[in-house]
Amino acid sequence: MSAPERIDGACYHAAYGFLHHLQAELPSAYRVDGELLTVMGPARRAFWTRNTWLEPFTFEFDSISQAAKRLKELQRNWAAYPFRLARRCAHIQSSLPHVPIKPRAFPFARPSAPMGAFALLDEHTMLASAVCSSPWPNGQIDFVEDKEGPPSRAYRKLWEALVMAGVWPKPGDRCIDAGATPGGWTWVLAGLGASVTAIDRAPLDPAVAAMPGVTYLKHNAFTLKPEDLGPVDWLCSDVICYPEALYEWVRLWLDASLAKNFICTIKMQGKDWDKATTEAFAAIPGSQVLHLWHNKHELTWICCQPEARNNSSRSE
Ligand SMILES: C[S@@+](CC[C@H](N)C(=O)[O-])C[C@H]1O[C@@H](n2cnc3c(N)ncnc32)[C@H](O)[C@@H]1O
Repeated sequence: MSAPERIDGACYHAAYGFLHHLQAELPSAYRVDGELLTVMGPARRAFWTRNTWLEPFTFEFDSISQAAKRLKELQRNWAAYPFRLARRCAHIQSSLPHVPIKPRAFPFARPSAPMGAFALLDEHTMLASAVCSSPWPNGQIDFVEDKEGPPSRAYRKLWEALVMAGVWPKPGDRCIDAGATPGGWTWVLAGLGASVTAIDRAPLDPAVAAMPGVTYLKHNAFTLKPEDLGPVDWLCSDVICYPEALYEWVRLWLDASLAKNFICTIKMQGKDWDKATTEAFAAIPGSQVLHLWHNKHELTWICCQPEARNNSSRSE
């Protein structure tokens, strides 16, 4: 077996279906392996990625057990990205400690144990990184779904954003849910015991509208000023709109200092994406802009106050 050879770069695993966006935002890749782009130089910010391999290295090995031993020596958790040699990858994966991939019940704390990633470049050459940006195997997180309560599946996006933020509304917190209909996000917020003003031009699902703490406001969210709505603990938006429209509205809230925490979907219109506005969101202090596992052609802006991180859920 050869000694590990560090690659002076990072490997960017594209968000599912958005390799073209990732290619457009990064310099030319040194190599492309399936949907994994290796780009030389220091790790860069990339929005359209499901996971970034931050400290990639390669090594050569003779047998599956040798490959697994080398990875195990580094850390416990590894996820295969089997873009080729899928059976051999699966054999190596099964020689490693079991990685729990069962759907999880919201809420739970983001795992603190690192999750590595590996792929086979050929039968005897491993590409791997013990340090990755996502705590989930290949950036994928699945929840135990509720098929009865929420009127849309968009609730999973908010669950994922809140887990990534490491904080969620407490009972009694005041939330705005802009673009709330049919009501998946409002269902999440009200289910946590928060009081929610759900704003949409279309009617909310009656069962969600009847949940304790929910007030429905039939209105264009963007013509409501922060002063009209008053201070809130959480400003959430899943409005379908151009990113600039959302940014302008969010700026009003930031300038008025009337919202503590933000979770907003930046929806991309058409085939392109609005890089300038995405960067403007990312430049807001304390922000993360992520492509969540449950996002489609959209990114999620998360901006939460550190003092809000008061959830007592156990970490793994
Ligand atoms: C993707 S849906 C929201 C889904 C919702 N988050 C859920 O979990 O069920 C987007 C919503 O934005 C609403 N919308 C679009 N423009 C709006 C605006 N200017 N003000 C308020 N709502 C708007 C639409 O009526 C639509 O219901």
